[in-house]
Amino acid sequence: MARVFSGVQPTGDMHLGGYLGAFRHWAADQHEHDSFFCVVDLHALTVEQDPAELRERILSTARVLLALGLDPDVCTLFLQSHVQEHTGLAWLMECVAGFGELRRMTQFKDKSAGQESVSAGLFTYPALMAADILLYDTDRVPVGDDQRQHLELCRDLAQRFNHRYGETFVVPEASIPRVGARIMDLQEPTRKMSKSVESPQGTVLVLDEPAVIERKVKRAVTDTGTDVRYDPVHKPGVSNLLEILGAATGRSPSEVADSYTGAGYGQLKSDVAEAVVELLAPVRERYAELSADPAGVAAILAKGAAKASDVAAATFARAKEAVGLVPPQGGRR
Ligand code: AMP
Ligand code: TRP
Repeated sequence: MARVFSGVQPTGDMHLGGYLGAFRHWAADQHEHDSFFCVVDLHALTVEQDPAELRERILSTARVLLALGLDPDVCTLFLQSHVQEHTGLAWLMECVAGFGELRRMTQFKDKSAGQESVSAGLFTYPALMAADILLYDTDRVPVGDDQRQHLELCRDLAQRFNHRYGETFVVPEASIPRVGARIMDLQEPTRKMSKSVESPQGTVLVLDEPAVIERKVKRAVTDTGTDVRYDPVHKPGVSNLLEILGAATGRSPSEVADSYTGAGYGQLKSDVAEAVVELLAPVRERYAELSADPAGVAAILAKGAAKASDVAAATFARAKEAVGLVPPQGGRR
């Protein structure tokens, strides 16, 4: 069975982009793989967080993942900060990564642009991400398109390490869906949908009420003209709606477009709204149930961390030994 690992930042409300680009594939494929999913709470600290808010977001992220179908009897769900090897291996990765290659990361450039102060953690973020993945001998990393560059770096670091110190890590592959890997903002369809809420009306949240989803979709910015056609360059708004409907119903956006010959934007929007409500309504319901059971969620995360720690400890010990560090006497790691 292939080993799968992926992570999500607990830095905001989870949205339709992450759901269609990543999370729903995690849930759909969990039975076919040995899957580890991680709420990357340490990554959240790369930008300033309010402690009380962060605590709540970490737990709410875990609840959403369970609500959308991750089954703790099938996959391993845990919090990054519960498994200490993540920061340990991140250091080894930082010592293999080059300053120049980290500086080229577009996520770093985007997040640091215009900021008064930028943390060193934001800069080394991809080294921690590589550690997350490599600790689990991961074969496949299901992510959205925006993580492609980080995954390439992770592969480079794994290969460089193996070349320098001998075969230590499995070199992972990104698994990016053909449809839905880059959902755009409904109000600004040339920008990806994201949780930085400059235009909350352009982001459908996984926990939005049906009426709110409907309103956001119906007010989505469309393009000049009236024909429904898949053309991301000239018709970014309509193409994004086709992408969403395609991802929600298992079709390609062009296939979806074909079924709208002669129909207008209005029909397309109602169908998108209906499909998204249908996808997300059950998640909202299960989320409410899980919110009433904090002890149950804590127990799931504890079990996940114990299982993840076993795997991570073995890999970290192997990596430390490979670089020439001396194992502690008595086997304590
Ligand atoms: P994040 O919430 O930024 O930690 O991202 C969680 C997962 O969702 C990652 O695999 C991202 O690549 C994916 N993702 C985030 N935004 C989008 C988007 N607009 N479209 C598709 N996938 C996305
Ligand atoms: N950087 C990812 C994001 O912003 C989150 C992440 C951290 C991750 N570690 C990971 C994703 C390991 C996949 C694998 O979405």
